[in-house]
Amino acid sequence: MPLADPDTIVIFDTTLRDGEQSPGATMSLAEKIRMAQQLEQLGVDVLEAGFAASSLGDFEAIAAIAEEIEHTRVCSLARANIADIDRAAESLLRAKKSRIHVFIATSPLHMAYKLGKKPDEVLRMIESSITHAAACSGDVEFSCEDASRSDPDFMLQACKTAVACGARTLNIPDTVGYAQPEEFAARIAYVRERIDPNVVISVHCHNDLGLAVANTLAAFRAGARQAEVTICGIGERAGNAALEEVIMALTVRRPYYRLSHAIKTEQIYPTARRLSRIIGQPLARNKPVVGANAFAHESGIHQAGVLKNPETYEIMTPASIGLPNNAIVMGKHSGKNAVKAKLESMGYHLDGAQIDMVLASVKRLADKKKEIYDEDLEALVLEEIYRIPDKYALIHLGVQSGDTGLPPTAVLVLDVDGKRVQHACFGVGPVDAVFQAIACVTKHKPKLEQYSVNSITGGTDALGEVTVRISENGNSAIGRGSDPDIINASARAYVNALNRLSKKQEEV
Ligand code: KIV
Ligand code: ZN
Repeated sequence: MPLADPDTIVIFDTTLRDGEQSPGATMSLAEKIRMAQQLEQLGVDVLEAGFAASSLGDFEAIAAIAEEIEHTRVCSLARANIADIDRAAESLLRAKKSRIHVFIATSPLHMAYKLGKKPDEVLRMIESSITHAAACSGDVEFSCEDASRSDPDFMLQACKTAVACGARTLNIPDTVGYAQPEEFAARIAYVRERIDPNVVISVHCHNDLGLAVANTLAAFRAGARQAEVTICGIGERAGNAALEEVIMALTVRRPYYRLSHAIKTEQIYPTARRLSRIIGQPLARNKPVVGANAFAHESGIHQAGVLKNPETYEIMTPASIGLPNNAIVMGKHSGKNAVKAKLESMGYHLDGAQIDMVLASVKRLADKKKEIYDEDLEALVLEEIYRIPDKYALIHLGVQSGDTGLPPTAVLVLDVDGKRVQHACFGVGPVDAVFQAIACVTKHKPKLEQYSVNSITGGTDALGEVTVRISENGNSAIGRGSDPDIINASARAYVNALNRLSKKQEEV
């Protein structure tokens, strides 16, 4: 994929591959497709959908994304061997535009201890694998893993071999987040000056020392024209360079970098929220660009300044990243067309029956809650439309807690495979009582790894969104539930997690 414009950055998103390697960020097939659709709306140029040879699940996800995605180039990762490359090529058969990304380590440490190979063997592997990849695909990227700890001359030799065999993008990863900005920029300049200018130099920076974005931006100044990034910086260990930070640096400081990109910045916030919902990890309040505090002004002096002129303390506008202004969107009297239009503006393209389901739950919620915001609507969509077919469903729940002299008690009715089962349990608190009762009825004994409750919007009548992560016999699952009553939300989240867990267990 030669660059049309040398001053444009290619955004290569690896949220679904490196990002998914982040602890706790595993996504189901349906979730990966939803995320890929949103990444396409965001305007990423290349979307790395997975590592085809690593598992059947990854292979199927890449194939499904390749089929679904219309304009974005879909990429599949492969080690430098023929079997991996064939698997990557097979996963991309239905892609409209595709790329094979081949990697092998070039640092002395990785070659000796991980690969058990001599440098000249590694060069031969690059030669044979890239030649094969180029025969399978017109768009081949080569990565020298652990590049920042590789001997620069050997790394260059590896890159030249890859280019001679057909690679059109050369990726220089800082695999362990070891590089420092000036040093990394010097390495990129060294490669840039010695490689055919038609070959795109890419960078892939990890964040172990908190420098992934700084290293990426420094690399642009040295001639890199592709950045491998993830939404919210999720990825192995401390993560990767965050797409939203790299993009907003290029956008806000355009006169400094003089580089353009194809990202629709107003899709940044909806994309970050979608990811956060899918992986069940709330956006940190102080997260640059998309955190809740990014546009909040606490001190009186700042507030006064912002009221007079937002530019006093805001270098970008909330609208530029697509942050909703929290205008009330829906209510009791909203009609189908309004719901449809609103959902489409939020990136959800639903059919008529699905819109009817969302509308019915908007009306139900409007009976309990006066004002319904974008975030509430999104929670309803996830709850109504994207919930996996349920083995267990919560029918009724009653809880007593407080200072009554009795232990907190939960009484519930669950539907288990179409049969109603009722049960009651005591607990140390109301949530404990509910979870124990559900576990008892479903005959599961999962460990609760994580429990978090978030208020989706402001006010005491806000929807509470509960996320739980449970594990049992080596399988783990995330569940979400939202309701103005957080005990109900907790029960729904727990049941949702058990449905996912039992689906996983059945698959195994
Ligand atoms: O961090 C890394 O080196 C990688 C490669 C596979 C590009 O993720
Ligand atoms: Zn990586």
